[in-house]
Amino acid sequence: MLMWSSNVAHTSGSLSLSSLNAQDLARDFGTPAFFLDEADFRDRVRTWRDGLQGAFGDHAGQVYYAAKAFICVEVARWLVEEGIGIDVCTGGELAVAMAANFPPERIEVHGNNKSLAELESAIRIGVGTIVADSLYEIERIAAICKKLGKKQKILLRITPGVAAHTHESIATAHEDVKFGFSIASGAAWAAIEAARSHSEISLQGFHCHIGSQIFSSEGFTVSAQRLIALLAKYQKEFGTALPELDLGGGYGIAYLPGDAPMSAAVALENLASAVKSACAEHGLDIPRISIEPGRAIVGPTMFTLYEVGTIKDVTTESGMVRKYISIDGGMSDNMRPALYDAEYTAVIANRVSTAALVSSRLVGKHCESGDILIKEINFPSDVAVGDLIAIPATGAYGRSMASNYNHVPRPPVVAVRDGKARIILRRETEADLLGLDI
Ligand code: LLP
Repeated sequence: MLMWSSNVAHTSGSLSLSSLNAQDLARDFGTPAFFLDEADFRDRVRTWRDGLQGAFGDHAGQVYYAAKAFICVEVARWLVEEGIGIDVCTGGELAVAMAANFPPERIEVHGNNKSLAELESAIRIGVGTIVADSLYEIERIAAICKKLGKKQKILLRITPGVAAHTHESIATAHEDVKFGFSIASGAAWAAIEAARSHSEISLQGFHCHIGSQIFSSEGFTVSAQRLIALLAKYQKEFGTALPELDLGGGYGIAYLPGDAPMSAAVALENLASAVKSACAEHGLDIPRISIEPGRAIVGPTMFTLYEVGTIKDVTTESGMVRKYISIDGGMSDNMRPALYDAEYTAVIANRVSTAALVSSRLVGKHCESGDILIKEINFPSDVAVGDLIAIPATGAYGRSMASNYNHVPRPPVVAVRDGKARIILRRETEADLLGLDI
């Protein structure tokens, strides 16, 4: 099933990852915990890397893994080893990349409000690309470069006015949005002129990211067409071509059994044909094409393992009985259901149950009634205190958006490969949290 990484099996009476069963993983690492299938992660990186190469050939640019989906130093090292780039959007994410000795030229820096300190450290390090998001930032980059005697390659983040079909909070390229320069309003052209006015800035091209968890190619096609039209306008006006287009991330994954995301191959072939025909239409050479998948790489590679603490049968207002199953984590390790109405599925991980399925709700341990991980699931009626529950596809925006709400320490990430498990991001402790108090 698509929600699980390739080395997860449900065969041996319990759920296992690379032949380590859930009971052993829970005993050795505790719950809640994220378990990451390293081989599957590396496979997905290669699939996107080779897919971009296959679809665009000589015009393939960089796959920048979107660190916001999940990053830690060890995962950054894997990216270095697999030869792809990284998209960071804060000084903190940049610090992780640097701690992993990421080659600076493969780092791309994002953000709609990068601080002066963040910009200066990125420029000092010599990052490959900064994606500029405002006129202020163009001026700041130029001033910092002047001070340091450097020249910086930039892309301009463009808003192509595309309504991606996804949750409103994760759509990013319609007009009324904080990101980028709009083509329609003329802001994009003003930014081009501003960038060209500084000899310290080398404008390489345009970037757009239309949103996240997208299942069809339409939005990507339209945004590629609009950015290519802008490249053509640039060439006509200034007589030179810009070499690069970064078309962002946003490729959807399966969270539920019925979800049917596009494969990387299909998504990239569709993108390549959109780019090629738009370039042909404008008589433009095909630029270097880069992409920034985050979720599609890391999302399916992790599941979260929880332990059931309490169970209640609650009679609803309509008279039905619903089983409330409380696990030992919740909205602090996965805020996506509360924030985006995101849906997940779950299984009992320590045994096989053939009991009848009953209407159930999977809830967390936080002091808030909205702390619900799965609002409605038909779950085995014999679920018991002490059972382990696994939720698949929690690799993206799970641990990375985790909080310490209610002073709950954040869970660890355990990487599993070739039958061996090791902690790559340790569990937070209460001492870590108390360490902040003065
Ligand atoms: N590039 C840029 C400029 C982005 O802003 C993002 C995500 C990505 C790439 C990666 O998108 P992906 O391939 O992972 O969809 N917290 C939300 C998702 C927010 C995405 C923000 N930007 C969620 O949990 O669904």
